[in-house]
Amino acid sequence: MDGLFCFRTDMNDLDQLVAAASADFAAAPTPAALENAKARFLGKAGRVTELLKGLGALSADQKKTRGAEINQTKQRIEAALAARRQALAEAELEVQLKAEALDVTLPGRARGLGGLHPVSRTMERIEAIFGSMGFEVADGPEIETDWMSFTALNNPENHPARSMQDTFYVDMKDEAGRWLNLRPHTSPMQVRHARAHAERHAAELARGGSMPEIRVIAPGRTYRVDSDATHSPMFHQCEGLWIGENVSFKDLKVVFTEFCRKFFESEDLQLRFRPSYFPFTEPSAEIDIAFASGPLKGQWLEVAGSGQVHPQVVRNFGLDPERHIGFAFGMGPDRLTMLRYGVNDLRLFFDGDLRFLQQFR
Ligand code: PHE
Repeated sequence: MDGLFCFRTDMNDLDQLVAAASADFAAAPTPAALENAKARFLGKAGRVTELLKGLGALSADQKKTRGAEINQTKQRIEAALAARRQALAEAELEVQLKAEALDVTLPGRARGLGGLHPVSRTMERIEAIFGSMGFEVADGPEIETDWMSFTALNNPENHPARSMQDTFYVDMKDEAGRWLNLRPHTSPMQVRHARAHAERHAAELARGGSMPEIRVIAPGRTYRVDSDATHSPMFHQCEGLWIGENVSFKDLKVVFTEFCRKFFESEDLQLRFRPSYFPFTEPSAEIDIAFASGPLKGQWLEVAGSGQVHPQVVRNFGLDPERHIGFAFGMGPDRLTMLRYGVNDLRLFFDGDLRFLQQFR
């Protein structure tokens, strides 16, 4: 080993040994290599042991001085070893720290920004516009009783008009022993809301006093056995009801025209009230709109069913049809959303494909 190095000639053999060991240690690139180098100098067959063995041939005096010198040499080599060990450990730590270094100036991992579903946006718009016209917003159950979905709305049991809605039934019966259904429209909310309102004001009504008007919209999910590009088994409706002592079809026209023009942000939007039939309104009308410009310009598009609430239904509200009168409408927020954004397949709204939905953020 020492052949690799050139030592100063004024060094004695022990100094040279220390220098050789230090050089060897310094050349060890890893802790394992360092331990090997250590064995060469301090191990059982190492250079220092060899020197100690040589003591046997010396006189007692010589042994004493030489022995002390060798011991010192051993200590110097051990010190060089310890220094190199520490240097290697520090270098290793530094490498590790560098590898694990954290760049605190890097931008954080941002979460994707969420957004409202396009139909929810429409719902919020509807609520805001009707809210500005003094309508409150009501919410009700999606699993309904037969009476609420049909009978109270003047749809007698076994009447063929019930087949206008291909209803989903729930495997559970109500108190009257009739199957519960997934509401096929939001119209049961007319009944629920009006009955609660009438009950709240029962005392005034009994005294012959006047009840505050009912002015409400009820948006929500509805269900029918129906599925194609413009029908989904789950879809949305928004019911509207305005009942007072002097509310007429004219008010329906004004309110709904105002709503559509605000919703589509078009003052020259045309509306058409086309005679139709619903068991719970008389007279009844489908409401069609036509845009004054754009790709659908001039085409009549149906957006809602409506009509003056049928006297029997007003009675089912718990009110006197001789005194309380008004109108109701039911519109399709999904349809409104398709028209507003130019979407041609309703199913896109419910497939949950982010590539589609993200466009509305
Ligand atoms: N409920 C009717 C439907 O689903 C719409 C409607 C509501 C019509 C209120 C008149 C009045 O088709």
